[in-house]
Amino acid sequence: MVANTSGECGMVPHADQHQARVLAQRVLAHGTYAVRIDARELSTNILPGQFFMIRPATGTDPLLGRPFALYDTIVDDHGDVTAFEFAYHVIGKMTGLMSHWEPGEQVELWGPLGNGFPVYTGKHLLCVGGGIGYTPFLAVARETLGLRKYGNKPSRYENFQPAKVTLAYGVQSKRHRADLSDFESMGTMPLLISTDDGSEGRAGFVTETVRELLDSSHEDRPDGVYCCGPEPMMYTVARLCRDARVPCWLSLETPMACGFGACFSCVTRVKTDDGWDYRRTCIEGPIFPADSLAYDGV
Ligand SMILES: Cc1cc2nc3c(=O)[nH]c(=O)nc-3n(C[C@H](O)[C@H](O)[C@H](O)COP(=O)(O)OP(=O)(O)OC[C@H]3O[C@@H](n4cnc5c(N)ncnc54)[C@H](O)[C@@H]3O)c2cc1C
Ligand code: FES
Repeated sequence: MVANTSGECGMVPHADQHQARVLAQRVLAHGTYAVRIDARELSTNILPGQFFMIRPATGTDPLLGRPFALYDTIVDDHGDVTAFEFAYHVIGKMTGLMSHWEPGEQVELWGPLGNGFPVYTGKHLLCVGGGIGYTPFLAVARETLGLRKYGNKPSRYENFQPAKVTLAYGVQSKRHRADLSDFESMGTMPLLISTDDGSEGRAGFVTETVRELLDSSHEDRPDGVYCCGPEPMMYTVARLCRDARVPCWLSLETPMACGFGACFSCVTRVKTDDGWDYRRTCIEGPIFPADSLAYDGV
């Protein structure tokens, strides 16, 4: 299936339907898993920050797919992309079902969907992830550091110097903290962990780490922020960036029914010349410049 949509009203990005099978599933944290999917075509096309809709290949419950972002692509010894992984936290019907998926499970996918993160042209990118919201930043970091190419076109980073990338990761407690070894394996990437209860890293919300970094007068101060996580956290980060005059992009996790522009279940409010209007997050997002969103204080 090809859904024809391109960001303008009534238009949708190219979205293919795929049948695929689960290759493996591993635990990343308490109630959080990474699933590897044998879908070469989708894996070759998907960009950091893009998402896909997934559901079981058989049965009608759940009827609707659910959106999940790319965690990373899997590359074989010849450098060819063969599969991809996404990471999820168990919160309801579909994610509960997914936690029982074994290798060989057949699934139905639509994607790649959404706009993905923009090409980063600054010097120091700060990625801010709250809870499961940290997962899109593995592929963002690999691409921005020039370690991996995504998509089927020439590298989006061919003409840019790799930027420094820092991950600020906030989570409830050490017990819920994700295994960050995929990030650690990149070596040069600073990882700043904060826990709400102080059981690991800095005590308190990750937004305090962001505030401190943006307040710094150091020449290495972040000059751009990508953020994904619970809405109150994202809007606080957006306000901090606005006050610090640092550009910020938010990856919204608006609930979605179709994922390609047909149902209008995913709308969010964006600023327009004469006030605000609704936009479909699945087409014009899920990533928006924070200052384009029409919410109080953002
Ligand atoms: C573009 C996009 C990318 C996403 N990427 C990821 C990802 O990489 N990993 C991941 O774990 N999750 C991701 N999500 C969220 C994920 O889609 C939901 O957690 C999932 O749909 C839940 O399905 P479920 O059937 O288990 O829960 P349901 O049974 O549908 O819902 C259980 C409860 O959670 C609430 N809920 C459902 N979805 C959301 C949501 N998006 N935000 C807040 N509350 C919600 C429901 O209202 C309900 O109370 C993403 C969402 C979007 C829009
Ligand atoms: S999820 Fe259907 S229009 Fe966005």
